[in-house]
Amino acid sequence: MGIFSLLKKKHSESVLPEKLPEHIAFIMDGNGRWAKKRGLARTAGHTQGAKVFRTIAEGCFELGIKAVTVYAFSTENWKRPKEEVDAIMLLLEQYMTERLSEDDARYKLRFIGDESVFVGETHEKMKRIEALNPKAENTLYIALNYGGRAEICHAVNILISEGKTSITEDDISSRIYTSASPDPDLIIRTGGDVRISNFLMWQSAYSELWFTPTLWPDFTMDEVRRILSSFGCRERRFGGLGK
Ligand code: IPE
Ligand code: IPE
Ligand code: MG
Repeated sequence: MGIFSLLKKKHSESVLPEKLPEHIAFIMDGNGRWAKKRGLARTAGHTQGAKVFRTIAEGCFELGIKAVTVYAFSTENWKRPKEEVDAIMLLLEQYMTERLSEDDARYKLRFIGDESVFVGETHEKMKRIEALNPKAENTLYIALNYGGRAEICHAVNILISEGKTSITEDDISSRIYTSASPDPDLIIRTGGDVRISNFLMWQSAYSELWFTPTLWPDFTMDEVRRILSSFGCRERRFGGLGK
């Protein structure tokens, strides 16, 4: 029995295979509020959020989605207190250590964002992880020190260094960090805020957007499946007239 029949059996709302996103992206927001609600330090929310990140990313691959992008740390998140930033970076280190020891071949990983702030052993680990499973058909993009505007500037600077004096949309699309994957079909933001917060500015031109009040550490694959059912019913017209 195929995965989609299984999904239909398990869930009353079915996910239509032909409408499954090829690329899904998540703004993983709400960790701090989740912790605050429980009287915990914000960092406890990030710890829980890191666990949920793995469940969701791997769950999406199991459904048959080829590319998953998660927003882990923005170029603006450095404004936060040092203890919080340090705690997030420690979680990154722990995740990378886990990933290197298990060598899960189901997907390859790409860090997207300005890597120049990551040096020494951390940077070396990032590169080692990116080199794993080059042939895996699934890709997990982790946006770290990422800003959508910075990404566009980065792409344009590459074009300038190549000597271009006039550029096309395709030139930018082929130099952004996610150029190996199609633009995200669906972007989901948890945490209840209805904004993009500098995420995938270029790629989101025709993405479907979904905002849920669920805080990221409470987010589940059940909710993803429900969102996917609804996504499957949306008509994407890309400026045309549709059906
Ligand atoms: C998202 O959760 C994680 C990061 C931005 C690193 P937040 O930490 O922004 O949680 P809230 O929005 O304050 O609840
Ligand atoms: C967006 O969340 C960034 C990440 C989820 C990593 P923020 O919490 O930083 O966004 P704002 O400040 O509420 O817009
Ligand atoms: Mg937030």
